[in-house]
Amino acid sequence: MCGIIGYIGNNPAVPILVRGLQRLEYRGYDSAGVAVIEDGKLYRVRGKGKVSGLAARLAEGHLGSTIGMGHTRWATHGEPSETNAHPHVSDDGASMVVHNGIIENHYVLRQQLQARGYIFTSETDTEIVAHLIQDEYQGSLLQAVKNALRRVQGTYGLVVMHVDHPRELIAARRGSPMVLGVGEDETWVASDVAAFLRLTDKVIYLEDDDVVQVTHQGFAIDTLADERVERLMHQIEWEADAVELRGYPHYMLQEIFIQPETITNALRGRVVASEGMAHLGGLDMVIDRLKKAHHIVIIACGTSYYAGLYGQYVLEKLTDLVVEVEIASELRYRNTTLRPGTVVLAISQSGETADTIAAMREMERKGALLLGLVNVVGSTITRMTEAGVYNHAGTEIGVASTKIFTSQCCILTLIALLLGRFKHLSVTDGMEIVAGLEKLPAQIAAVLDQAEHIRAIATSYAQFDNYLFIGRKYNYPIALEGALKLKEISYVHAEGCAAGEMKHGFLAMIDERFPTLCLATKDTTYEKTLSNMQEIKSRKGPLIAIATEGDTEITSITNDVIYTPPNLDFLQPIPAVVALQLFAYYFAIERNCEIDQPRNLAKSVTVE
Ligand code: AGP
Repeated sequence: MCGIIGYIGNNPAVPILVRGLQRLEYRGYDSAGVAVIEDGKLYRVRGKGKVSGLAARLAEGHLGSTIGMGHTRWATHGEPSETNAHPHVSDDGASMVVHNGIIENHYVLRQQLQARGYIFTSETDTEIVAHLIQDEYQGSLLQAVKNALRRVQGTYGLVVMHVDHPRELIAARRGSPMVLGVGEDETWVASDVAAFLRLTDKVIYLEDDDVVQVTHQGFAIDTLADERVERLMHQIEWEADAVELRGYPHYMLQEIFIQPETITNALRGRVVASEGMAHLGGLDMVIDRLKKAHHIVIIACGTSYYAGLYGQYVLEKLTDLVVEVEIASELRYRNTTLRPGTVVLAISQSGETADTIAAMREMERKGALLLGLVNVVGSTITRMTEAGVYNHAGTEIGVASTKIFTSQCCILTLIALLLGRFKHLSVTDGMEIVAGLEKLPAQIAAVLDQAEHIRAIATSYAQFDNYLFIGRKYNYPIALEGALKLKEISYVHAEGCAAGEMKHGFLAMIDERFPTLCLATKDTTYEKTLSNMQEIKSRKGPLIAIATEGDTEITSITNDVIYTPPNLDFLQPIPAVVALQLFAYYFAIERNCEIDQPRNLAKSVTVE
């Protein structure tokens, strides 16, 4: 999950590397480091903490160098510390490596190398690669890296520099993304394009087992099997809004408040109101296979998984498909039998989540048609799928996903509408759904208008350390997502549960110190949810309700109510989750927590 950048060109490398690392920090932020070659010597600066700390230490020196690499880390092997921070250096001090991924045979290799006298200075798996390169080096850095990687099992995106090759970078990938940014007389290698935002629009995505040699003259790509290969050059369009804070104190708040716009973008050009129909251009090329499909398997992790759960309810309501939702990391442990014509829909904000990618490979092996619902254009998942839909929601920086979740829910409804209209769904039902979808931007804005009210509630509850979130049917995934948001950025214990499941165990936790957030919007489950609230109240549990505007009955149970606008029962959860996002945000602010980069997490989870 670490961020990697390498640069070679005619400009001073240090400021380019530092700026790139700051943009990559969402991938990991427990330590950072930079190495450059200057006047024939390798220099390395690294340390625990964020890139800003590193930048201060780098401000004065090494500005003459035009080649270098940097890394921002999310610890796997070894605690966050200066000695475990990348770049890692070979025993002879001649080569350095930055790496994202996990070397799975690190234990065996470490023992072999130690037996041959190599001294290790860190607890990381990456240091092994540096020593292996030394072990294999006979004058050609490219060959040494290839030979070293042939001894490695696991995943890597990495960049290597060598003091005897002051005008050369080697980068390679297997399982972890690496992309080349190609400029005029300068080249970047990075774990993703954000590293060289707006500096070039020409990119090449490396494929697994590619090894690229980059010099001031250009680059050449080989495979580990020593074949010279050409990879397609893509032109990317930088989003105008990319990674700007726009006056908000945190990216998370900016991303919560931009949701009327991101929902508008999710719908733009994708509904035909007069026909009660959806049109998703990204699915056109597989539409005939989709029409014939009987079975859809949604795979995702974290927040994207909760969006998938929401999608399951909506797809089951609007279509005749059999729908399953799987946690990607668990799918591989199951002996799944796919019926002919099974469609797999991978949902991912980043498009780089290792667990989701691994599950997709499994499903592909079993013959499924792979589709994606992804935000990051050109990411690995988009390149693995036959077709798919983009969120078009702009870069999401806050580690706690917000705008992408609502966008995912909205697009899943569009997919359900599209597939439903091919089968039994009537034009009038379709028109009603389109009208409901089109109300969402204004309805989300109405929730955002209550930010101060939500802040007041969150502040008054900030003393409690345990939370339950409950909801039924369409609101069940929202309860799970609300709990995840709160624990991610506040580090308090929060559990989501299906309201009906509460009495089977969760209720034991409830007392006057254990509040519950209840998703109690007006739908077919409303009365039952109200009964659950009564059960909590009887046990003195504090209650916060998310209810539909005009509901006065709810105030007989609790005065802490956040109202959301009425809509079709399966669309009401979308504005409701925005209320929970704001609750989590203001709760975390009140408890002085880090918002955009919560401890121990990273935005892009590229390890399994
Ligand atoms: C969301 O708030 C989390 N940070 C996390 O659960 C995330 O949704 C998960 O890692 C999946 O990421 P993806 O959507 O990029 O695949």
